[in-house]
Amino acid sequence: MFFMLTTLFKDIDQRFPEASTHLKQLWAKGTKFLGCPLGILGGAMTWVSEPSLVSAISNAGGFGVLASGAMSPDILKQIIRQTQKKTSHPFGVNLILLHPQVGDLIDVCIQCQITHVVLAAGIPNKDQLKRLIQAGIQVIAFAPTLAIAKRLERIGVGALVIEGTEAGGHVGPVSSSVLAQEILPHPFTIPIFIAGGIGHGSMILKYLEMGASGCQLGTRFVCAQESVAHPLFKQAFIRASARDATLSAQVDARFPVIPVRALENDGCEAFRRKQQEVVRRFEQGQLSQKEAQLEIEHFWAGGLRRAVLEGDTKMGSLMAGQSVGFVRQEEPVEKIIWTLLKEACIAYTSNTSLSYDKAVVEPPLSA
Ligand SMILES: Cc1cc2nc3c(=O)[nH]c(=O)nc-3n(C[C@H](O)[C@H](O)[C@H](O)COP(=O)(O)O)c2cc1C
Repeated sequence: MFFMLTTLFKDIDQRFPEASTHLKQLWAKGTKFLGCPLGILGGAMTWVSEPSLVSAISNAGGFGVLASGAMSPDILKQIIRQTQKKTSHPFGVNLILLHPQVGDLIDVCIQCQITHVVLAAGIPNKDQLKRLIQAGIQVIAFAPTLAIAKRLERIGVGALVIEGTEAGGHVGPVSSSVLAQEILPHPFTIPIFIAGGIGHGSMILKYLEMGASGCQLGTRFVCAQESVAHPLFKQAFIRASARDATLSAQVDARFPVIPVRALENDGCEAFRRKQQEVVRRFEQGQLSQKEAQLEIEHFWAGGLRRAVLEGDTKMGSLMAGQSVGFVRQEEPVEKIIWTLLKEACIAYTSNTSLSYDKAVVEPPLSA
């Protein structure tokens, strides 16, 4: 493992000494907080971010984050143990605050001596935060607005992720670039990581230069060789372009749909038809408002698992960000990270983000 890290970094340091020093300085606050050499997080992706991908990201110098999705505490414990066997480098665990057993999941993280927890889908309550902080766990939370970012820092969260609407999966309404302009100029003392729509190293450099301490990428890692995603799921990513990653449609304002960004497929059309049918039955008095809402919400149940693990790319949920256009082939995590670093360094060296194609250099892969 150590060999892999040093080979990768030596190559970048030798080719781009000034740019690599610049990057290290820019993300120093983030890397110190994460305990890894690079300010690049592999965002948790339910069913995708399991021990193989997460350990590969951490072993390559980034910061992998395990997705816990709707897992039971026992399963979470198993996958944490499996990840710990595959890497001695730090990684995080993503917990969904809406999970009915979130308290037990926190216990598992404490028992397994997890160093970082990434809390999604809400704001942690006092008790949750206190238990994590007292156990010495670094807490990272999502900040969808400046006001929430300030509040999260005030209540003791250790770092923030600002995720824009370009991202894959459940998203907010505002773009990463606008959130970055709104939030980064404020004098936060904690590290801030930007997520959503990042496919190229030049963008990482730009966000760092705006004051971010690192970036979180999800979509870009789905087609890593180490990712267990089904070959058909990966193929859908490789074929797709940015415009294919669309937001879930809502057909009636009375029945809100949580915005999810995914690749358009037959399932998306069936979802629109399902909503129309449910609204019709509601208007005819066959369903109560609550029953109708639940039927709509249940449409995608199990859809991401079917797509990621079984390769059901027609009807499953193909959650993907707009950065899917940068996913062109299956390649090792190490190469993805090396490419991002190289792009960031070239952008710094040439002061333009468009010159990356000129660099015909190959990574020193150890795998
Ligand atoms: C397939 C998929 C599943 C995701 N699942 C989760 C999740 O379980 N928890 C979470 O906090 N974020 C989840 N995300 C968001 C990622 O962690 C990450 O923030 C996002 O992918 C970054 O934007 P990008 O896709 O443009 O790189 C998911 C994203 C994708 C593409």
